[in-house]
Amino acid sequence: YEDPLDLMDEIDELKKEKDATILAHFYVDGDIQDIADFAGDSLKLARDATQVETSTIVFCGVHFMAESAKILNRKKRVLLPDLNAGCSLAESCQYEPLKNYQEKLRAEGHDFLTVAYINTTAAVKSLCDWIVTSGNAREIIEKIPEDKEILFVPDQHLGRYLSEVTGRKMILWPGACMVHEVFSLQDLNRAKRNNPESQVIAHPECPQNILEVSDFIGGTEKMRQYVKSIEKPTTFLVATEAMMIHPLEKLAPQHTYVPVPGIITSTGETCACNRCPHMALNTLQKIRNCLRDGKPEIEWQPYFQKAYDVLERSLLQ
Ligand code: 13P
Repeated sequence: YEDPLDLMDEIDELKKEKDATILAHFYVDGDIQDIADFAGDSLKLARDATQVETSTIVFCGVHFMAESAKILNRKKRVLLPDLNAGCSLAESCQYEPLKNYQEKLRAEGHDFLTVAYINTTAAVKSLCDWIVTSGNAREIIEKIPEDKEILFVPDQHLGRYLSEVTGRKMILWPGACMVHEVFSLQDLNRAKRNNPESQVIAHPECPQNILEVSDFIGGTEKMRQYVKSIEKPTTFLVATEAMMIHPLEKLAPQHTYVPVPGIITSTGETCACNRCPHMALNTLQKIRNCLRDGKPEIEWQPYFQKAYDVLERSLLQ
């Protein structure tokens, strides 16, 4: 056992010694978000990574996020505390199957652009025309000429939602996030009955049946802005990764936040299924170790250049 406070001190020292900056996604442990130099959603973190002045970035998130940070910052050393921190969405859409599917669509006469959620590997990004996050997806899709079809990968739920709000027809890849897909409508409705004055805030990675009963739909940064805009103390049922409650409580402590389905298992215990097991691989120990040892590191790969072009155009311009 190592005392978290000692670890935090050690991390602070190592950060100076190794000339490092820590970035953390809103889905990692609250302690890690608190010691980070930048905490944010996928879009802000990708942009923040380009503003880092130190020679090393420690990315507390999942692999595709650290990989994107490396792609946008070729000269920097990018460390990921645990290389096994993957993503069920990125996993669901691989390079060869996507390339084959694009070829099949072209052979059938489809004239389309491929839009990828940022939750994809660099190899998949290199096959795409635009990269979106939940924060900028609508804006980018609205820029795509009306005469083009859109192939949206890999999140079918986000794609369906974007198709609804933009009015653009989309060909959807059948991927889904393992955390957002398991929310049960029955549990959510029960939570609503138990909290009659509550509002449901949901990430657009949730399936349609959850979004239909939500009062607000938005990515993690948009959720923060929404709860901040409401002054009256309110109970929010939060349909996204459970750690998101940490930044919401910090920003708008007047409210009560209830994870969905968190408190409402049949045994009355807190359900862990709304925690992303990959995000949870980030620990203070592993952050200390990776700073101390300079690894695991995301190494530059030749195919990153193509992914750079599309990422830069999509997120930084
Ligand atoms: P945002 O950070 O865009 O809200 O998306 C969450 C997510 O999918 C992280 O993997």
